[in-house]
Amino acid sequence: MKSLRKAVLPVAGLGTRFLPATKAMAKEMLTVVDKPLIQYAVEEARAAGIEQFCFVTGRGKTALVEHFDLAYELEATLKERGKFDTLKQLEGASAIPGSIVSVRQQVPLGLGHAIWCARAFIGDDPFAIMLPDDLILADTSWVKQLADVYGQTGGNVVAVEEVPREHTNRYGILKVGADDGRTAEVLGLVEKPKPEEAPSNLSIVGRYVLMPEVIGELSRFEKGAGGEIQLTDGMARLIGRQPFHGLRCHGRRFDCGDKAGYLEAQIAFALSRPDMADKVRAFLPRYS
Ligand code: G1P
Repeated sequence: MKSLRKAVLPVAGLGTRFLPATKAMAKEMLTVVDKPLIQYAVEEARAAGIEQFCFVTGRGKTALVEHFDLAYELEATLKERGKFDTLKQLEGASAIPGSIVSVRQQVPLGLGHAIWCARAFIGDDPFAIMLPDDLILADTSWVKQLADVYGQTGGNVVAVEEVPREHTNRYGILKVGADDGRTAEVLGLVEKPKPEEAPSNLSIVGRYVLMPEVIGELSRFEKGAGGEIQLTDGMARLIGRQPFHGLRCHGRRFDCGDKAGYLEAQIAFALSRPDMADKVRAFLPRYS
């Protein structure tokens, strides 16, 4: 079995839900406390041993690649001034030369199409997909948790979460087979079904470990829910041919594509940090 070394991060979305903030700025550069969403995702992948990244970008997204570049003047100035603590804060925002590549998704044809755009990077290897809008607060990286299950079962593993029935039309939903309460066998996948048609209320969260064969399925360019080329439909075609599991990961997910979810993430992440927790606890009661 090949080990997991690659991650694809689709980051071409327009971020319309966060306008005007995202008019001239990539939504993945929005910060939670003091770090952009894209960096949380990259650090989570690194914690799973991944060091090769492909950002699937669009116009106006150059800052995402720049964020991990050497900021020569800034770093030289900080060194000159002896600000070594500040320099240390830049560590996660760097990359081994050649470890981040980007490809363009010229037209927004859907998540499945975005992943297909990374086909040359993926080659014949298993790969992780991370949707940076889904921000994870956990002791163990979710990609690592998925990679560990992949190591046991082989095949495809996606992070899943129970959602309220009335929200099934926002997610990819599983048809579940054998289920031990943590790992569930996937028998089917449907993208954004109406609550009355959903096979369960177990939804896909934005973390996946997939086999390269999904690319062949996405190459059909079949349109699915919302008229888009859906990753969920491509994955569904692998069921029965390869192992496919859903994993309820330990930890919490925040939907940072949603304003309330994003604000909650700010509070939760600040409270999880020793340098911020007391200050936040001191002012929070004023607002309840
Ligand atoms: C995408 C996927 C969906 C998944 C969701 C997780 O939807 O298509 O299957 O459940 O991400 O965040 P989107 O949020 O792009 O509409």
